[in-house]
Amino acid sequence: MTGFGRTEGFGIARVRTCSIIMLAAGEGTRMRASRPKVLHTIAGQPLIAHVLGAVSEFSRDRVAVVIGPAMDRVAEAVRKLLPQADIFVQTERRGTGHAVLAARAALARETDDVLIVYGDTPLIRASALAHLREALAAGAAVAVLGFRPADPAGCGRLLTDGERLLAIREEKDASTDEKAITLCNAGLMGLRGDVALTILDAISDDNAKREFYLTDAVAIARSKGLETVALETADRTEVMGVNTQAELAQAEASMQQRLRAAALDAGVTMVAPETVYLCADTKLARNVVIEPYVVFGPGVTVDEGVVIHSFCHFENARIGRGAIIGPFARLRPGAEIGEGAHIGNFVEIKAATIEAGAKANHLTYIGNARVGERTNVGAGTITCNYDGVGKYQTDIGKGAFIGSNSSLVAPVKIGDGAYIGSGSVITEDVPAGSLGLGRGRQIVREGWVARWRERIQAAVKKKPG
Ligand code: UD1
Ligand code: MG
Repeated sequence: MTGFGRTEGFGIARVRTCSIIMLAAGEGTRMRASRPKVLHTIAGQPLIAHVLGAVSEFSRDRVAVVIGPAMDRVAEAVRKLLPQADIFVQTERRGTGHAVLAARAALARETDDVLIVYGDTPLIRASALAHLREALAAGAAVAVLGFRPADPAGCGRLLTDGERLLAIREEKDASTDEKAITLCNAGLMGLRGDVALTILDAISDDNAKREFYLTDAVAIARSKGLETVALETADRTEVMGVNTQAELAQAEASMQQRLRAAALDAGVTMVAPETVYLCADTKLARNVVIEPYVVFGPGVTVDEGVVIHSFCHFENARIGRGAIIGPFARLRPGAEIGEGAHIGNFVEIKAATIEAGAKANHLTYIGNARVGERTNVGAGTITCNYDGVGKYQTDIGKGAFIGSNSSLVAPVKIGDGAYIGSGSVITEDVPAGSLGLGRGRQIVREGWVARWRERIQAAVKKKPG
């Protein structure tokens, strides 16, 4: 048995071909949810997307996904994530060996390596798969990934003799001595392409569960005089399977730890990383500072030197170099924040470009809009972009000044350098360099209060009773 850490071994991908079989036919009843198990998300992506991401390091056009009957949603998700993947349906659920053979057409294709992965182990790294492939390249017919779980109950045990893997014993078929073995089968397997089908076709259902165990591939290979090996992953969270909501939350926690560590490693400053939630596709440049409690939804890119104050929420947004965001800012899909712009507290931006150096520092909604360079948007400004039917655009030029508490009723244009008086409701375009004012004129009545009181008091006295 050979151990390995986190060293990458992708050189193999250049010299050998590889077919991937991903098992995703499990119904996930223990999730107690209507969504198919592999479509639950961690770090903003479905479980299956994480696994496809890891296998894509080796092969994008030799990926087969085995799903169960009536799993159209999974098929649809796979087609979107990796259109060239082949989808096979396992019509009857008769064990992992049976599931792999549902992809017989994929297995029949000539290939150096076959990798079998589960769709519900989202934390698997390409490096672990690369090590399985290296074992195949070194001559093994079957290579299995082992781990030492805190509680091995339910796992297949790896029966080893020094370097060699003799067999995998499923718990239900294991003797007391075998159950005491702590090294378990993680479920990931590599098979040498030239013998894969012969081995898999020899699997029978002669066992306690009357299932076709993929794990029998090991003993079958050995009976044919072929070499079988086990590798042990140093990081047991990597092979953790998701079967329940609690495990989904654990997988999320592990993935978040991994993403935060990578961000810190890449030069991002996080004051309290454990309070920052990232997505697998979050892009953070160097010298970004993130204060506690910030949530990154999918599709967010942050350029160099941006400061993000606490309690912000972002989704499908881009933040340009040196911008200052928050606290309590919300960037919704299509928010593009330009270089050095300031977006302050209780400001929501959606489908809008805020150009370089512009500022919206307090209590503002900007949707379907452009705010030109260096323009100042005062507190309480609202773009009224929706009339209950359609969405309309607000275009604000460069160097403009929008007075506090203004409503800009779209579609509307404010020209370069224009001023909008505070409290305006702007319904017509304001040309460049002009003042737009749309509010009732103020009146002042001197001495009015005393006169009013006198009148009221006199009226009260006159009332009978
Ligand atoms: C399997 C392994 C066990 C290992 C464990 C690790 C076998 C016989 N046993 O056991 O050695 O320790 O995983 O988690 O392989 N699936 C199908 N179709 C089927 C059966 C399963 O697609 O007919 C899929 C499941 O959706 C799942 C994966 O294969 O993604 C594993 O199946 P599961 O029933 O969880 O196997 P275990 O009994 O946990
Ligand atoms: Mg399982």
